[in-house]
Amino acid sequence: MAPMPKTMFGVVIPRPGGPDVLEYKTGLPVPSLGEGQILVRNEYVGVNYIDTYFRTGLYKPPSPSSNSNHPSTNGSNDTPSPYPLITGKEAAGTITASSHPSYPVGSRVVYLADNTYAQYTLLTFPLTQATILPASLTPETACAAYLQGLTALTFIREAAGITQQLGISEGPWTLVHAAAGGTGSMLVQILAVMGAKIIATAGGKQKCELAKKLGAGWVVDSSLPQEEVIRQVKEITNNKGVDVIFDGVGKATFGTVDLDVVARKGTIIVFGNASGAVEPVDLFRLMPKNIKIMRPSMPGYITTPEEKETFTSELFDLLVTGKIHANIHQIYPLKNVAQAHIDLESRKTTGKLLLKVE
Ligand SMILES: NC(=O)c1ccc[n+]([C@@H]2O[C@H](COP(=O)([O-])OP(=O)(O)OC[C@H]3O[C@@H](n4cnc5c(N)ncnc54)[C@H](OP(=O)(O)O)[C@@H]3O)[C@@H](O)[C@H]2O)c1
Repeated sequence: MAPMPKTMFGVVIPRPGGPDVLEYKTGLPVPSLGEGQILVRNEYVGVNYIDTYFRTGLYKPPSPSSNSNHPSTNGSNDTPSPYPLITGKEAAGTITASSHPSYPVGSRVVYLADNTYAQYTLLTFPLTQATILPASLTPETACAAYLQGLTALTFIREAAGITQQLGISEGPWTLVHAAAGGTGSMLVQILAVMGAKIIATAGGKQKCELAKKLGAGWVVDSSLPQEEVIRQVKEITNNKGVDVIFDGVGKATFGTVDLDVVARKGTIIVFGNASGAVEPVDLFRLMPKNIKIMRPSMPGYITTPEEKETFTSELFDLLVTGKIHANIHQIYPLKNVAQAHIDLESRKTTGKLLLKVE
């Protein structure tokens, strides 16, 4: 085995803030390998909306003491502050050091973990969220599809309870907001495979066209006034309303569109804050239509090796058989991560943003 380098490059966030706080740095310490761990040389890093929440401070970053990749834990600085922080939740690359027999050096893996905006990431065990790639999947495709594909699949199967793979028109009425985005485009494609009747909302003509190509039966331009969006969704469902709503937009859509267009006995799955976090809800608002509200997180559905195996194999199978595709918007050099955040937050992107680590 080649000797391990002592330093690496990566992107550090010294304090919460806008995209300008993302600092590309060299000379960062390479985390050292402990019992049952693997060290991955990242090739591609996925950019996810959650990365912006950790950057701005909307979500509290993991504490340095629980995090062996943290830039401050390899030195003597034992500060309780989570900053400086290396963020990022997803990557694919090659194992360069391992003390786990099931994950040999040289294997290509895709994984979910903290601190992926870096040349190397240390994965700690139990490794419920790292998977050795089959030869049929490239690290690029796997990284583009993993976090958002698993999110879509677990939310469809577990949160919405949609299990059927019927012909189109037999499944429930579903509504996917931001349907041309990374997670939205995975939701639309997988719901289409399962025969759901899909109404997609997306901002502008081009995004609506993409959502249709991905498998939505109906599209509504979310840049129209909300009363018009509501009117169109009701008309499409013949005033029945939507059985299951997948909402990663949050604040701008939950209290207005979702509660209005959801069907009697329907389910609203709010899973993100692209427009801001949803305010606390008065439970009496659920009563008129006997509706259910969920606020799931994907990692909460993948906590055991069995869950990881079930959902990862189903996702890989969908990809390898060509039933769904990873739609890559752009691959940015790791150094240009700030531009990736700017593009994502300004609603300019469709599909997945990747960072190349070279
Ligand atoms: N709970 C979980 O486990 C989990 C896992 C993965 C993702 N998520 C959530 O899913 C959502 C989508 O994430 P993603 O990474 O796939 O991003 P994305 O959908 O590719 O990008 C966000 C999209 O949200 C829409 N949007 C609506 N209002 C917005 C606003 N005010 N500012 C910015 N964007 C706005 C835009 O689409 P339009 O222009 O078409 O409106 C934008 O393209 C996020 O809320 C994320 O937190 C949650």
